[in-house]
Amino acid sequence: MKYFIVTYGCQMNVHESEKIAGILEKLGYQEADKRENADIIVFNTCAIREGAEDRVFGNVGNLKKLKKQKKDLIIVLCGCMTQKEATAQKMLRTFPFVDIVIGTFNLPKLGDYIEAVKKGRQLEIWQEGEIDELLPYKRTSGDNAWVNIMQGCNNFCTYCIVPYVRGREKSRKEANILKEIKEIVAEGKYKKITLLGQNVNSYGKDLNPPVSFAKLLKDICAVEGDFKLSFMTSHPKDLTDEVIDVIASEEKIEKFIHLPAQSGNNRILQKMNRKYTREKYLEIIEKIRAKIPKCHITSDFIVGFPGETEEEFEDTCSLVREVKFDSIFAFMYSPREGTVASKMEEQIPENIKNERVNKLLKLEKQIQKEEKYGK
Ligand code: 5AD
Ligand code: SF4
Repeated sequence: MKYFIVTYGCQMNVHESEKIAGILEKLGYQEADKRENADIIVFNTCAIREGAEDRVFGNVGNLKKLKKQKKDLIIVLCGCMTQKEATAQKMLRTFPFVDIVIGTFNLPKLGDYIEAVKKGRQLEIWQEGEIDELLPYKRTSGDNAWVNIMQGCNNFCTYCIVPYVRGREKSRKEANILKEIKEIVAEGKYKKITLLGQNVNSYGKDLNPPVSFAKLLKDICAVEGDFKLSFMTSHPKDLTDEVIDVIASEEKIEKFIHLPAQSGNNRILQKMNRKYTREKYLEIIEKIRAKIPKCHITSDFIVGFPGETEEEFEDTCSLVREVKFDSIFAFMYSPREGTVASKMEEQIPENIKNERVNKLLKLEKQIQKEEKYGK
């Protein structure tokens, strides 16, 4: 019996697909080289922007032919998109050949749904779940080992669907993380370890007793062995001086920080509920550069947030000019149903969002060129 997994979205999902592979291999499945050869196909979906959802809809539609040829093929949809009850229902209706639709918290029970599918189509979406501490993984990212340290997000940035589909922040116990790290190092196959969480800087606040992210980093670096450590994603409001100091002082930690700014304008930052100002963001960048020379800094930006004026967009451009990031990701704002921003007035037309994203990316390219070859 063979499986094939299609993954959309961020590194968290890539790692989650490693868990799915781990579960399926434990059930006796082996990896198929292509979907045509699989007995079970899993779509691990993303809901962060409309484009991601559209891609899933299109590609699931394409499975109809395969299912016709192979009646016993099991098709599973899981991940952030199917955590939304209305979307999950719509997918079941639209795609009668899909067998299992589950939410993000239901993954540990995947084996049970596969077993039950003989009796009929399975749909189950839990609203919360315990953090899966000890699921098996099949690591698939070369010499990099992903390690999940927490799930969920408490920030409720007004544009973002993540808190709705991944629930509240829950940290893994430090002892379990350290155990996993030691096992990874002992395997000897991995040169890099990347810690994953939506907001890694608030790691451990929910543990009893609390553990700081800085302490976790230090304790991981104390594990004997030859490896480089990095992490994502950091939220500017929670990046402490202590964490900056640990990155500066620990040889094992990569001198790299992904620090999404989202906007360079204070009114928009406030409407986004980011809880920092442009000035505060620049202050953090200055601190990083003072303490960690040559630190690579990257960022995410959203253009065309509801109500964003041309001048406010220019503030984002000037921030990008000022900081000179090593690279940036720029996204057109995409309204997500159920979020606060999707109900805001003054939604920006697509053509203007498009113009702005192109302008920002062009600016970034120009800066990179100047940095490389001089003005
Ligand atoms: N529209 C556009 N971009 C978004 N992001 C998150 N939500 C949205 C949205 N609704 C971007 C943010 C985040 C990155 C992972 O995706 O920039 O940092
Ligand atoms: Fe979304 Fe904001 Fe949480 Fe990041 S910090 S996952 S952007 S709500």
